[in-house]
Parts: sequence; structure tokens; C-alpha cells
Amino acid sequence: MAIRAAREADIAAIIEIERTPGFERFFGWFSEDEHRAHLSDPDCRVLVMEEDGAVQGFALLRGFVTGEGHIRLNRLAARTPGNGAGQRLLDHAKAIAFEAPSTQRFWLRVAETNSRARHVYERNGFMLEARLPNGGVSAAGETVDIARYGLLREVWQFESA
Ligand SMILES: CC(C)(COP(=O)(O)OP(=O)(O)OC[C@H]1O[C@@H](n2cnc3c(N)ncnc32)[C@H](O)[C@@H]1OP(=O)(O)O)[C@@H](O)C(=O)NCCC(=O)NCCS
Repeated sequence: MAIRAAREADIAAIIEIERTPGFERFFGWFSEDEHRAHLSDPDCRVLVMEEDGAVQGFALLRGFVTGEGHIRLNRLAARTPGNGAGQRLLDHAKAIAFEAPSTQRFWLRVAETNSRARHVYERNGFMLEARLPNGGVSAAGETVDIARYGLLREVWQFESA
């Protein structure tokens, strides 16, 4: 098992995982061109988890140029939820987000109904900051209520000590 920066050759697997049946209730879809652009965008970091030569999950972070100390977890998805792959990606994502001393906060938006993801974020010290009724549109085209979570550097340092 390895977590590394995504490469062009990973895009097909990333899209396959993002478009897993059932995930369309939770987030939108990026086009192939958008996924490709993320790889070279200095504002973004894309991580993949690889096992036995296959991509098992990915994470997209953004805000490294524009975030002014607030890095966003823009996508996190595991090929097979429930086996800890998402947690391992999240561990790396947190480390990368807080690697720059200027990062004060790591934040994300999640569909309120996505109780599995919310449990995982809360387990990792993310605090509910806001509820945004009708705050997003899923890939299924439905308006969804959004919960916004944030992890402050102080909390991350305390939890990872
Ligand atoms: C969210 C996600 C990345 C988490 O990664 P994961 O590898 O599944 O996480 P883990 O296996 O470490 O943990 C899953 C946890 O959810 C819990 N869980 C499972 N179904 C649940 C539910 N319906 N409600 C609440 N908790 C649930 C499990 O019990 C486990 O918690 P525990 O170990 O504390 O008991 C992954 O499930 C995923 O890709 N989901 C689909 C895409 C998605 O929702 N992405 C997040 C968008 S913001």
C-alpha cells in the first residue's frame, strides 16, 4: 500500500472511483479535463492510494496558492468504503495540508446525509462549523444540504501528538 501524488495515468481510475454508483448523492463530478488540470495546478494536490498496482482511492486538496492559510479537502473517495483506505488517505491529506506553517485550518463540505463521511471527519477532529441548507448540487442533479467542517491546526497538533 502506498500513497503518492497522482499522475496522468491515474485519471481513469480516479474518474471510475468518483463515479462509483451511489457516490453521486454525495458530490459532483469533475470532467476528465478538470481532473487533468488539477495535476499541474499549483493550487491543488491530488493523492492516490495504490495497492497491488491498482488505485484504491484518491483525495483532492486545494488552496495552496489561493487559500490564504485555509486548505480545502475538495474530494475524498475510496474504491471500497469501510476498509480504512479513506482514513489512510485522510491521514496523508492532513499532513500535507498542515505541512506549510501558514496553514491555519483544513476544511471541507460534505452532504448532510453522508453520515459515514461525517463520522470519519468527526473522528478526525473536524468540527461542524456551519449547516448550509440547499448548499450544494449532487452529481445526481439534486440540491443537497451541506455541512461545513473545519480542523484547526491546534486541534490537529493536539490529536497527532
Ligand atoms: C468517506 C470515506 C472516504 C471514508 O473512508 P473509509 O475507508 O470508508 O473509512 P473507514 O473504513 O476508516 O471508516 C468508516 C467508518 O464509518 C462508519 N460507518 C459506516 N457506515 C456508516 C453510516 N451509515 N453512518 C455512520 N457511520 C458509518 C464505520 O463504522 C467506520 O467507523 P468506525 O471505524 O469508527 O466504526 C469512504 O467511506 C468513501 O469513499 N465514501 C464514499 C465517498 C464519500 O462519501 N466521500 C466523502 C465525500 S465528502
